[in-house]
Amino acid sequence: MTDAVIERLNLRGEGVAEGLPPIPRVLPGEEVSVSPERLQILTPSEHRVSPPCRHYKACGACAMQHASDSFVADWKTSVIAQGLSAQGLTTRIRPILTSPPASRRRATLHGRRTKKGAMVGFMARASDVLVEVPDCQVLHPAILAATPALEAFTRLTATRTAGVDLAVTVSEAGLDLCITGGRAADRGLLAELAQLAGQHGLARLTYGDEPIATREPPAQRFGPARVVPPPGAFLQATAHGEATLLAAVQEAIGPEQSLVADLFAGCGTFSLPLARDVEVEAYEGDAALTAALDAGWRSTGGTLRRTTAHTRDLFRQPLLPDELARYGAVVIDPPRAGAEAQHRALATSSVPRIAAVSCNPVTFARDARILTEGGYRLDWVQPVDQFRWSSHVELAAQFTQA
Ligand SMILES: C[S@@+](CC[C@H](N)C(=O)[O-])C[C@H]1O[C@@H](n2cnc3c(N)ncnc32)[C@H](O)[C@@H]1O
Repeated sequence: MTDAVIERLNLRGEGVAEGLPPIPRVLPGEEVSVSPERLQILTPSEHRVSPPCRHYKACGACAMQHASDSFVADWKTSVIAQGLSAQGLTTRIRPILTSPPASRRRATLHGRRTKKGAMVGFMARASDVLVEVPDCQVLHPAILAATPALEAFTRLTATRTAGVDLAVTVSEAGLDLCITGGRAADRGLLAELAQLAGQHGLARLTYGDEPIATREPPAQRFGPARVVPPPGAFLQATAHGEATLLAAVQEAIGPEQSLVADLFAGCGTFSLPLARDVEVEAYEGDAALTAALDAGWRSTGGTLRRTTAHTRDLFRQPLLPDELARYGAVVIDPPRAGAEAQHRALATSSVPRIAAVSCNPVTFARDARILTEGGYRLDWVQPVDQFRWSSHVELAAQFTQA
């Protein structure tokens, strides 16, 4: 065993101590004794708490349950502040807004065959051990209640040597399940899957790329629109997180716009609620998502302002300054890699207001610097924690022409 003092946490929430590899589940200031197999906390931090979930010790899905809520809030906020500071930026960072426990409506669980039948859960940390999580504190109750169904699907689809991934989303019509990694589908398996989907009342079942059964379209409500996302589509992880990000986006674009561009629009999380008040042009790289957005807009029967959905690769073909000149505001919500090329074009545009949403404080800060060097002011950042007890943090921010 080696004794060490934890200096700080890295971006994955692991402890950093001089001369040692990252140490999970410790806190800054703690004196610890470590070996590759064991961790002993010699002097616990004042921020150390008993994990609220009984599975925390074994399960690898959460990383921060040993820390108080106030520590996690401060730490996640500091990750954003440090990312900005590394780019020479400061701004007002508002208090973080954290989703409640038991509100994660989209998750990928793992399923495995066992001698007795099947088990479903999350993987243990850095290991191939699967941990059942019947009392998980993160998942929406509708997902936990479906554990017997997920086990039944696992029995049918996993092989003795390979497990399956079970991507589950809570929708208005029930669960939307997408199974990947299972055995090759023959007619018999497809028929059994369809029967099982009916038996367990799934809204929709997809096996690999194969649509198996749709009892009722698994719709999500974005403002007044009902959108049916394609299987496995991106969806903000909690309803609370989505509402929080939307409120920040609405504030950032301001009240009096006539035309807004929503870049990296997904299937309309922001476009469709915004279209209550303003015309929206949505841009997204995945044609199945733009089709879902468009159908969602049509489902409202003309109650929303005009919303057009365009399929466009914004990495290769960002909207250029002359195209951007038409918009009173732009919403931009790129994937983790950020959107360097699109921010370079925005930086030389005349768009008065930009609402930025990001799931990666590092690429956000890089892109924020591009905007500020182009003459924008970063007015505020709103941290959002919809991945409670993980090391992730998200944010929304307002930029205006300085
Ligand atoms: C973080 S998600 C945000 C989606 C949406 N704003 C929402 O809140 O539901 C990022 C989106 O960017 C899209 N995307 C990824 N790469 C892209 C690219 N090169 N061009 C356009 N869209 C892309 C993804 O398909 C995904 O819908």
